[in-house]
Amino acid sequence: MIEMELQQPTSVACGITAASSQAEPLIAYALFRILAPVADLNRVAVANEHRRLGVGRRLLESSHTLLSSLGCIECLLDVRSTNMEALGLYQGLGYVQIGRRSKYYPDGTDALLLRCKFTTNPSVADPVP
Ligand SMILES: CC(C)(COP(=O)(O)OP(=O)(O)OC[C@H]1O[C@@H](n2cnc3c(N)ncnc32)[C@H](O)[C@@H]1OP(=O)(O)O)[C@@H](O)C(=O)NCCC(=O)NCCS
Repeated sequence: MIEMELQQPTSVACGITAASSQAEPLIAYALFRILAPVADLNRVAVANEHRRLGVGRRLLESSHTLLSSLGCIECLLDVRSTNMEALGLYQGLGYVQIGRRSKYYPDGTDALLLRCKFTTNPSVADPVP
């Protein structure tokens, strides 16, 4: 599934390795689809043993900078309404809720649609919704 996503010409993948060398194993990744000026965050994950250390925040901040340089002005994503870890991460980066998809997931959980508008500092939300 991820392999198929990566083959799409609109896909952008960002990752963080355990050390500065790219030969080190990945500890976090984010996968976006870009239809400039809008990016969609399709997947993001940090390896269990590296969570709560600011890795997810650093990854998305760097990703926002990259997306901005590729002509994106905002990033959209869906998140489970029950995923408090992810919601905390996104809200801390300036994502705001712009919609809700009722019972979106097979187990009946709602999806929240979030948006982060990039500014000169692309990880900070624009004050105008
Ligand atoms: C969501 C996820 C990517 C966060 O990565 P992380 O590297 O642990 O996050 P960070 O350490 O950068 O934390 C950033 C913020 O996220 C929130 N957060 C992260 N983990 C949390 C937890 N266990 N409980 C509550 N809030 C949490 C906090 O607001 C945190 O800010 P703080 O440290 O100032 O309190 C990680 O938990 C993960 O991979 N989860 C499984 C995959 C997933 O759910 N992906 C999202 C799909 S939409």
